[in-house]
Amino acid sequence: MHKDSAVGIHDLSFATGHYVLDHREIANHYSVDINKFHLGIGQEAMSVPAADEDIVTMAATAARPIIDRYGTADIRTVLLATETGVDQAKSAGLYVHSLLGLPSAARVLELKQACYAATAALQFAAALVSRDPSERVLVIATDIARYDAGSPGESTQGAAAAAMLVTAEPAILRLDRPSGLFAADIMDFWRPNYRSTAVVDGKTSIAAYLQAIEGAWKDYTERGGRPIDEFAAFCYHQPFTKMAHKAHRHLAEFSGAAAEPDDIHDAIHTSTLYNRVIGNSYTASLYLGLASLLDHRDDLAGKPIAMFSYGSGSVAEFFGGTVMPGYREHLRTAGHRAAIADRTPIDYAGYRSLHELSLPVDGGDHALVEEGRGPYRLAGLSGHKRIYQARSRR
Ligand code: COA
Repeated sequence: MHKDSAVGIHDLSFATGHYVLDHREIANHYSVDINKFHLGIGQEAMSVPAADEDIVTMAATAARPIIDRYGTADIRTVLLATETGVDQAKSAGLYVHSLLGLPSAARVLELKQACYAATAALQFAAALVSRDPSERVLVIATDIARYDAGSPGESTQGAAAAAMLVTAEPAILRLDRPSGLFAADIMDFWRPNYRSTAVVDGKTSIAAYLQAIEGAWKDYTERGGRPIDEFAAFCYHQPFTKMAHKAHRHLAEFSGAAAEPDDIHDAIHTSTLYNRVIGNSYTASLYLGLASLLDHRDDLAGKPIAMFSYGSGSVAEFFGGTVMPGYREHLRTAGHRAAIADRTPIDYAGYRSLHELSLPVDGGDHALVEEGRGPYRLAGLSGHKRIYQARSRR
């Protein structure tokens, strides 16, 4: 095992969309047994962004409490991970940098590799901080999962952003080495530039995910990683929460760990509670899983936890982190629960009209109706530019 320097997640905060669609609405619309969703894929509800919300407003909303607590000094890098980019050239991170009032002496960029990019951002951030421990890096994962209405993916949509402050001597989670890596060129999920919804071959993506766990775990063990039974809990990328169950069963069987239903439940259950009611948030999903685990377990101080990141296409990474003593004092459990509880319920017809909405592309001036309640909104479009606004602070 390598000797780890203490670099990792100092603060973690997430935000989600304005509306919530209960899966009973989807079940009723398609006359499907609700247990297909509650038991079959492990989802109860999904967040739906308002028309004046997007990945930028969610990202800024997620990061705002971190800036309020720790200020902007020494944040010299902003890494925004998304597969729902709003521009092919400009980083969405620059809008967020501006909305948050971050220092102009900064490098700001966007990273993409399906649901994996936030993990790359986290590791790049850790490397930057290792090189100069006086610097802090803001990492934000932000995505809106969209599939065609009527497709199998429809019930696995959702939206959220997770913001993390990466520093030396972190208060919440130290990132440990080694990482186990795996990459394979596979078409399990992708979104061509001309589409606003992803194309997914669901069964292929589940198989590719499981194959990637084997590859990443093999690399992790070959590089001197911990034995599997040392981990106190496991966080998986969750396109739907049942996937964490499938993933852990597969890894446990592959690595020779206990794989009875109770063992799997104990290993993953608390990491699935937020995702179960928010839905897929692509690259933010693993970090909502981490927030859920930390917010719902109080016995993790000093213990190693496992993280598995998967991004279709595909790239995967298995890595560990050690939960820091006193971590609970730095969590944002109340804010996270409020972000979920404060959503406005929407019915199937209301969700469908938002799903079918597309922003004008004529370059004219278009104001958007005020709909969401968050601290930031997409106010309109003008000359092909997105206009963002901060609401006055509540
Ligand atoms: N009660 C309990 N379970 C039920 C059920 C019922 N009434 N009806 C179905 N199920 C179970 C099925 O047995 C199946 O379980 P299994 O996966 O353990 O076999 C599960 O529910 C899903 O049913 P299925 O018929 O396979 O659903 P589907 O054709 O709608 O596809 C997905 C499900 C997950 C493949 C689809 O939603 C999808 O493609 N999602 C996107 C996947 C994704 O995001 N991948 C990205 C990268 S990881």
